[in-house]
Amino acid sequence: MTFAELKEKKDLLIVALESSCDETACAVLKDGKILSSVISSQIDIHKEYGGVVPEIASRNHVINVEPVVEEALKKAGVTASDADCFAVTYGAGLLGALLVGVSYMKGLAFALNKPLIKVNHIRGHIAANYIADPSLTPPYIGLIVSGGHTAVVKVDSYTSFTYLGGTMDDAVGEAFDKVARVLSLPYPGGPEIEKAAKGGVRTVYIPEPKTGSPYDFSFSGIKTSVINYAHTAAQRGEEINKADVACSFQSAVAEMLVKAAVRAAKEYGLKDIALAGGVGANGEIRRVLTEACAKRDLRAHFPTKETCTDNAAMIAMEAYLQVRYGDGSALAGEELDARASIPLV
Ligand code: KG4
Ligand code: ZN
Repeated sequence: MTFAELKEKKDLLIVALESSCDETACAVLKDGKILSSVISSQIDIHKEYGGVVPEIASRNHVINVEPVVEEALKKAGVTASDADCFAVTYGAGLLGALLVGVSYMKGLAFALNKPLIKVNHIRGHIAANYIADPSLTPPYIGLIVSGGHTAVVKVDSYTSFTYLGGTMDDAVGEAFDKVARVLSLPYPGGPEIEKAAKGGVRTVYIPEPKTGSPYDFSFSGIKTSVINYAHTAAQRGEEINKADVACSFQSAVAEMLVKAAVRAAKEYGLKDIALAGGVGANGEIRRVLTEACAKRDLRAHFPTKETCTDNAAMIAMEAYLQVRYGDGSALAGEELDARASIPLV
């Protein structure tokens, strides 16, 4: 099937795979609607090491990929031969982990003689918003908050984006994970910080780092200030209140992120802000964004919590947008390779 034929295909059936980090996931999408979404998470394996071990992640993707795809197909009541096209995350992410998914889907597409759509993981995170709210229409501001990336972008259309700013050092998810480690909380730190913060009060001063642009962030300084706070307390022989530290850190980060997104919406005269990425599952960030938008007559959009963290439903949705609105550049040839780093959007 040519790209032009794919574009016109009624009830377009897409089978998508995600394997960029520590989740092996497969989803089936028909005419823009999710029929099934299966996620096999390796979190419990990596927990032991305090973070994702790339080599172990790749090995587990190899073990999981076939059963995950089989389960997603079975749940959707289709076979691989029913697919009009396949889709796969090709970057950014862990190279070895990505390679497993890319090789598997290239094999499937080649064997069944079907087109393969290559998907940018971060664009996938943004596309998760259309699953939760199909009425969301560009242009709008996207606030990307994941384990590897943090940025404010202008979503100009379903397939074009303008980068406005982002982190100059650590990604926000990394900051959550590192602060959690300082507080002796397990990996992944984001959900643990959120849990701990529930019983806390915002008593610890977290300085807001100065960056050159209102859309740029710096999280490594924040992480350092938490480390310094913990060390100072230890030197004085004082016990730190983990809940208060978690609450202070989380609130400060939520404010910084939301401030930048709201400013961008105002500057570009846009009414909608959509959150994207694993850290977008955070209840406090969602609350602060909702409140800030309500005050300024803006609309806040969120993926469901399940589609904030890595999944293949968002990859299938992004592939669907590429087919429906794209120019064919997402069509992968035999040369498709996994890429650890690609342009953000
Ligand atoms: O988007 P994601 O699943 O993977 C990447 O593409 O990087 O993001 C993973 C990150 C981790 O750093 C994890 O700690 C964070 O998302 N995260 C959270 C929450 N759930 C996951 N951070 C804050 N609050 C949460 N509830
Ligand atoms: Zn992700």
